[in-house]
Amino acid sequence: MIFLEGGRVVDPATRVDGIRTVILDGGRIKEVREQAPSPGERASNEVVDCRGLLVLPGLVDLHVHLREPGEEGKETIATGTRAAAAGGVTTVVAMPNTKPVCDSASVARFVQARAREAGFARVLPAGAITRGSLGESLSDMAELKDAGCICVTDDGRPVMSAGVMRRALEYARDLGLPVMVHAEDLTLTGPGCMNEGSVATRLGLPGIPAAAEVAMVQRDLLLAEMTGAHLHVAHVSAAGTVRAIREARARGVRVTAEATPHHFTLTDEAVAGALASVPAFRQEDAPPVEPYDTHAKMSPPLRSESDRQAIVGALSDGIIDAIATDHAPHGPLEKDVEFERAANGVIGLETSLALTLALVRAGDLALPRAVERLSSGPARCFGLPYGTLATGAPADVVLVDPDRAWKVDPQRFHSRSRNSPFATWTLRGRVIRTYLEGRLVHRSEE
Ligand code: DOR
Ligand code: ZN
Repeated sequence: MIFLEGGRVVDPATRVDGIRTVILDGGRIKEVREQAPSPGERASNEVVDCRGLLVLPGLVDLHVHLREPGEEGKETIATGTRAAAAGGVTTVVAMPNTKPVCDSASVARFVQARAREAGFARVLPAGAITRGSLGESLSDMAELKDAGCICVTDDGRPVMSAGVMRRALEYARDLGLPVMVHAEDLTLTGPGCMNEGSVATRLGLPGIPAAAEVAMVQRDLLLAEMTGAHLHVAHVSAAGTVRAIREARARGVRVTAEATPHHFTLTDEAVAGALASVPAFRQEDAPPVEPYDTHAKMSPPLRSESDRQAIVGALSDGIIDAIATDHAPHGPLEKDVEFERAANGVIGLETSLALTLALVRAGDLALPRAVERLSSGPARCFGLPYGTLATGAPADVVLVDPDRAWKVDPQRFHSRSRNSPFATWTLRGRVIRTYLEGRLVHRSEE
């Protein structure tokens, strides 16, 4: 057995917040208790001194692009899950926009087999809503579910046809699968490559209005209401989306939602090279980037300060259930090009926890709530038995030094890609150890 002794255990699912000893046994949580290990227990077990550390349930990330199969130069299941372990993430939902798309049992099974081989994190595949994620004909969701997919999504693009979406929701509802949506009306996006607004005007870049997201979310909420299906809204970027979800929930629509660290930390000012108005970061902690830095380009785009604040508020009041990274690795071929031509996406697995703790330090989010949004919140979205230290749960545990400052150096990331907008930032909160089912899968070198 392993005894994690003397840390501040925060497990929102069981409402624990205090100094406790966590006991891991045979890959499961045996007990979380107040007493320290007895001399006899010390003599015959491994005891880890956790004084000064947070002891948290392993984090659950509902939105990760692992790129394998097909784009192993950007990331592999092994490197992506190694990055997850370094970030304290023990469960990841793998997006299906691989090459080929995960629209068949064979791809879903391949992803899980590779993840088991690597052994760094639990990988749950998401299947495509439509074949090839082309938005036309439905995938065989029953086959995907049978092969281990825990939700369906065409992430990276929307299902533009409302008729197709309606059938998808009906089919998924009957199978008990949540439908995760990348909500974007492409006719409003047009050639846009950043948020529509004064910053885009100043930079001379074509904009994407917030309405491109909000209109599609409203459509999907109506369809979810009509069908009774479970809609999960990915990467919420706009205040209007938060409002729409709040209203829908109040009338009983089955909807859950996630937001990313980049959307709750940055605004479209980052594209102009200015430091976003993030009170949690002092100027010297977060030096300005170059204007037109493609590491500030993703879909949906960084929005305005009022959108950012709406997301932070929704994380606090629970309208947004989960923090998910949308970890999207790209290489220099896609990123070292003109802004308009650059690929969308940033990596996030190794910075997500520290950026969340910045919200806590800023007083925007209480610590237990922050932990909830990273663990049991996302688990609950998809009905997963993870993200808790409850007795009998898989022993996924992360030890965190909440005050340890570290400088983000993408060269030192475990991820195969380096496209982080937070390079050179000084963050606080370092993952010291990560356990997956009782096995040590990450240990910080410092
Ligand atoms: O920024 C993004 N990158 N948004 C998406 O929806 C897809 C993702 C990717 O696959 O690179
Ligand atoms: Zn997306």
